[in-house]
Amino acid sequence: MHKSIRINWGLILLMLIISQGCCLLQQPNSSSDNGLKDHYKAYFPIGVAVNTRTLNGEESQLLLKEFNSITPENAMKMEVIHPREDFYFWRDADSMVNFAQNHQLKVRGHNLCWHEQVPNWMFKDNNGGLVTKEVLFKRLKDHITTVVKRYKGKIYAWDVVNEVIGDADDEFIRNSLWYQICGEEYIAKAFEYAHAADPEALLFYNDYNSERPVKRDKIYRLLKNLIDQKVPIHGVGLQAHWSVFEPAEKELREAIELYASLGLQIHFTELDMSVYPWEKNKRQKRSGESDRLTPELEAKQIDQYAKVFKIFREYKKHITSVTFWNVSDRYSWLDYYPVPGRKNYPLLFDQNLQRKKAYQKVVDFKE
Ligand code: GLA
Repeated sequence: MHKSIRINWGLILLMLIISQGCCLLQQPNSSSDNGLKDHYKAYFPIGVAVNTRTLNGEESQLLLKEFNSITPENAMKMEVIHPREDFYFWRDADSMVNFAQNHQLKVRGHNLCWHEQVPNWMFKDNNGGLVTKEVLFKRLKDHITTVVKRYKGKIYAWDVVNEVIGDADDEFIRNSLWYQICGEEYIAKAFEYAHAADPEALLFYNDYNSERPVKRDKIYRLLKNLIDQKVPIHGVGLQAHWSVFEPAEKELREAIELYASLGLQIHFTELDMSVYPWEKNKRQKRSGESDRLTPELEAKQIDQYAKVFKIFREYKKHITSVTFWNVSDRYSWLDYYPVPGRKNYPLLFDQNLQRKKAYQKVVDFKE
């Protein structure tokens, strides 16, 4: 006997709808799968400072999920990349630029001229005395031209000159060997050399404590002088080595508005949020000093991160990049400075590379 099979199309349709619904529920919600870079897509690239360990170890997955720009933490500094007059060490810097190219990340170059992490040979003649201004200009030009040309078209922005403003209230330009030998002129020259080597690259002046009014006004004065002299400078890098105690909202807003009034782009170049107040000098760890992330400090950090990112979003017209200094609390330069061996917790990912509560606040906004 032939049994006729009656197909119940209505039931099938119902089952299909239910199974689709289940699938949708099971799929990760697209917004929780987003990284920082996706949340901030309509605002600015989100970068991070990297070393060779970052790119080869566990943090690299996190990097690719959350960030779309990198800055070599040390690999392009003069003492690393140009340790002797006749020798450049390209291996690490090249590997970072290649990594970025392979993964479509932007690269900020850091840095071309600084008074720290600069090799001694730069300032010395054959007899161990200081070189003349002419020799130092030639060396600076050779260095900048060689490094910038090598990465032409691959590094879109350079921190050309780092930290030349003095910390003492009455010191304008820091009394470094660069300054002692060349006078203030070396600052403009560095930008000119970089521009000649790659006319497309965006060139930045970069400094810390740049929201504190006295230092801010000196940085402004330097930038204005450079612009008035028609020096090729496109932006100011505010390092943003901040803490849960500063900057105040008013200072941050005033600084952004002042620098932006010069028509410069603003990059936040080295963001971290120490849980300790700023101290300038290295000191020993005090016995009994706590270095736990207490609930009170954590709460302050959450508020501070939420506050500064809200301000960043408001000023998106002027802010064209925000870069964190290191990936996670597993490793930060602040574990060594200014108190060697004191643990710090300055970033948005914890020591297990998990998103911290502050992270949620930073991405929890409506466009
Ligand atoms: C300064 C420099 C950076 C880095 C930090 C500390 O901010 O610009 O390159 O050395 O200090 O890690």
